[in-house]
Amino acid sequence: EQIELGGYSHYMLKEIMEQPEAVRDCLRGRVDLRDSKIILGGIQDFKRQMVRAKRFILTGQGTAYHAGLIGEYLFEDLARVPARCEYASEFRYRNPIIEDDTIVVAVSQSGETADTLAALAEAKDRGALSIGVVNAVGSTISRETDAGVYLRVGPEIGVASTKAFVGQVMVLTLLSLYLGKRKHMSNERVDHYLKQLSQIPDQIEKVLKQTDHIKNCVKQVADRDNWLFLGRGYNYPVAIEGALKLKEISYIHAEGMPAAEMKHGPIALIDEGMPVVFVATQGTQYEKVISNIEEVRARGGKIIAVATEGDTHIHKYASEDCIFYVPDVMEALQPLLTSVPLQLLAYHAAVERGHDVDKPRNLAKSVTVE
Ligand code: G6P
Repeated sequence: EQIELGGYSHYMLKEIMEQPEAVRDCLRGRVDLRDSKIILGGIQDFKRQMVRAKRFILTGQGTAYHAGLIGEYLFEDLARVPARCEYASEFRYRNPIIEDDTIVVAVSQSGETADTLAALAEAKDRGALSIGVVNAVGSTISRETDAGVYLRVGPEIGVASTKAFVGQVMVLTLLSLYLGKRKHMSNERVDHYLKQLSQIPDQIEKVLKQTDHIKNCVKQVADRDNWLFLGRGYNYPVAIEGALKLKEISYIHAEGMPAAEMKHGPIALIDEGMPVVFVATQGTQYEKVISNIEEVRARGGKIIAVATEGDTHIHKYASEDCIFYVPDVMEALQPLLTSVPLQLLAYHAAVERGHDVDKPRNLAKSVTVE
């Protein structure tokens, strides 16, 4: 086991740290920058149906569901096709309406999650074409879908999913650009995205260098039992995934939600020193997020912020030791970076509290029963 851990104290930390390489593997051979091409062999035969599709339904559970939610934003924003993400467990039982030209996208690390498999079967029975966004090669979901794109991030052992999440978001980004390019995007725009995408592995590497900085911040707040995670737009699913990571391994109660929802109830929870994590990167909703931060500060909450490099304004609201920076990228690509400091935050909080990060109580890596 020590050899497999490669010098790291936990699989989770190892998998967080190997994300630059994992994302490089995910991208390898799939992006051709010379003629702004996206090459996805696994969906080649269904290209026409995908471009013609009137709706995408993304489905999964847990972390995969959160990746699917980002997919919903990506498909609508970049591919300009209606999309929604649903918990597989809800979709399968709610007698869903599947219109013609609907494509279901099953998102799963293991490819074996019982609810996701059942949702997939339900959608297929009702006539949807199915696509897998799966890590485990040869898994049931990968066999049962009509087409698919593997994550290629390597095996994930840590129960709390990290590199698979980033891999899922990367594949969904590639899929939405693949469609966007064939539907309406100019070559220049696709080019711009692909250039930024290919920088992501190096940029994740940069974010990872802040691990000690994140650890120092966590030390100040790890004793607090209630946290909030807030974000808007593309960073809303990142916030709920950040909260899930913290719950899973540190057993701290955390809620993630769209930042604007806070004032519809959860703001009542905020008291002196309550940690509130904001994903507050530069983008169309930055000012709105800042006003949410002000509301929390006015009530004594402890602000922890993920911000864009070079943002000096954020210092007004959070102390430097609890600001984690990510490089400046287009909004649609931000989740690939902003999710990383939140993984480290959860990891360090769990270690600080003395928990076995790789064997969280009550959890299984793969939930193959209902
Ligand atoms: C379990 C794991 C989660 C995972 C979820 C979905 O609950 O503990 O980390 O996100 O299943 O798993 P999948 O293999 O379908 O991605």
